[in-house]
Amino acid sequence: MRVYDIISRKKEGKALTLPELEFLINGYVQNRVPDYQIAAWAMAVYFQGMTVEETVNLTRTMVASGETIDLSSIPGVKLDKHSTGGVGDTTTLVLAPLIAAAGGRMAKMSGRGLGHTGGTLDKFEAIPGFQVELTQHEFIEIVGRVGAAVVGQTGNLVPADKKLYALRDVTATVDSIPLIASSVMSKKIAAGAEAIVLDVKAGHGALVKDIDEAFVLARTLVEIGDQMNRETVAIVTGMDQPLGFAVGNALEVIEAVETLQGNGPSDLREICLVLGAHLLVIGKVVQTLNEGRARCEEVLRSGRALSKLEEMVKAQKGDPASLRDWSRLPQAQTTVEISSTMTGFVHRILAEEIGIAATLLGAGRETKESRIDPAVGIVLKKKIGDPVEAGEPLALLHVNDSTRLENVSQKVKNAFQISEEQVTAPPLIYGIVTSKGEERYH
Ligand code: URA
Ligand code: CA
Repeated sequence: MRVYDIISRKKEGKALTLPELEFLINGYVQNRVPDYQIAAWAMAVYFQGMTVEETVNLTRTMVASGETIDLSSIPGVKLDKHSTGGVGDTTTLVLAPLIAAAGGRMAKMSGRGLGHTGGTLDKFEAIPGFQVELTQHEFIEIVGRVGAAVVGQTGNLVPADKKLYALRDVTATVDSIPLIASSVMSKKIAAGAEAIVLDVKAGHGALVKDIDEAFVLARTLVEIGDQMNRETVAIVTGMDQPLGFAVGNALEVIEAVETLQGNGPSDLREICLVLGAHLLVIGKVVQTLNEGRARCEEVLRSGRALSKLEEMVKAQKGDPASLRDWSRLPQAQTTVEISSTMTGFVHRILAEEIGIAATLLGAGRETKESRIDPAVGIVLKKKIGDPVEAGEPLALLHVNDSTRLENVSQKVKNAFQISEEQVTAPPLIYGIVTSKGEERYH
C-alpha cells in the first residue's frame, strides 16, 4: 500500500477501505506519514466527501488510535452532550447538574475554547479552585457518587484527532462534514459515552453556517452513533446571535447559576430543557420527552439542580460558596458601556464578531499558549428583535487590560446591526435528527 495511491483514489472520489484508512491514520499517529500527505488527503476529503461507511470506518480508526475509558462500573446509562461550538454557549454548566439532579449520569468530556468559540473547561475553571484534570479513577468515582463530572481530554485519548485537528486548523479543512463528524464522535466514544445528545449549531456564529449543511452534519453524526451502537440524537440549534447574554468565563458561570435559580435568559433555559428532555429519554430515566421536560423543570424549580452544581464544584475541589456569593468569582477592574447611535430594532448580532471581541479582551486564547482571563467578557443588553433608542446600552464590556479597548468597542458596536423595521428573533431550534428520522420546525 502506498499513501500516494490512497490520496489519489480519494482525489478521484473513490471511497477508501478500512485497511486504507488504518494505514493512513495509524501511519500519521506513528509519524510514518508526514503532515503534507495528510493535508493533501484532508483537502481531497473536503472536495470529494466520504460515504457514511467510510466516515464510520474513519471514526473507528481514530478511536482505536489511543486509549478508551471504561465507565461500565457506574450503574445506569452514561450520557454525554456535545456542542459543535458557539458563542456564549453556557449550556453544559446548567445541563450537567440538571441531568444529575434529575437522576441521569453525565460523564462529560469537554474541550477548551477554539477560535472565536468558548470552551466548557475554561468556564468551569473560572470557579476558584475547580480542577478539570482528574484521573480516570477520580472521574469515575465522581460520576458515580455525584451523578456528573466534567474533565478535560486526558493524555492519550484519540491522539489521531489531536494531530488531525491541529493540521486541519491551519490547512482550511476544518469545515468538512465527515471530518467534523468523525472528530466529534471518536472523542465521545473513546471517553465512554453510551448515549449522546449533540447540539449542532447553525448560523453566523457556528462552524457550519448553512442550515441544510447543519442537517447533513446532524444526520452523519447520528448515523455514526447508530452504527457504533451509541444512541445518538442531534438537535440543530440557531447560532445567529450569542446564546443568553453573557460571553466570558466567570460571567457565564453567573449566567448558569441564574438559569439554575430560574432567572436565566429564556433562550439558554429553553435549549437546556430541550436537550435535557432528550438526555433523560436516551438515558432511560424517563419514557417520554414530555416527562423529561417536566422532570427538568421540577429540579430547576426545587433548587435541586443548583445544589447539584454545588456538589459537583465541591467534588472537583472548587469553591461552592462562589456560586451564591459572586464577589468570590474573578471580577474585572472596570466596565465599559457600548451604546447605540441609532433608534430602531436590533436586526442582527454577529455572533462571530462578539466571540472575537471577547477573545481580544482575554476571555479566549489567540494562540494555544495564551492564558485566559476568567473575569473579562461581554454582557449583551439587547438581543435580536429588541427595540433600542439612541444612547441606550447595547452591551457592557468587562475589562482588565484596556490596550485593545478601542478595537474591541468598535467590533462590538459593528456586531450590532440596527434597522428601522421591526424584526422577529431567529429560530432557536431548527429541528431534530434521530436514528428514526428527521423533524424540521422551520
Ligand atoms: N469540534 C470537534 O471536536 N471537532 C471538529 O472537527 C469540529 C468541532
Ligand atoms: Ca451565555
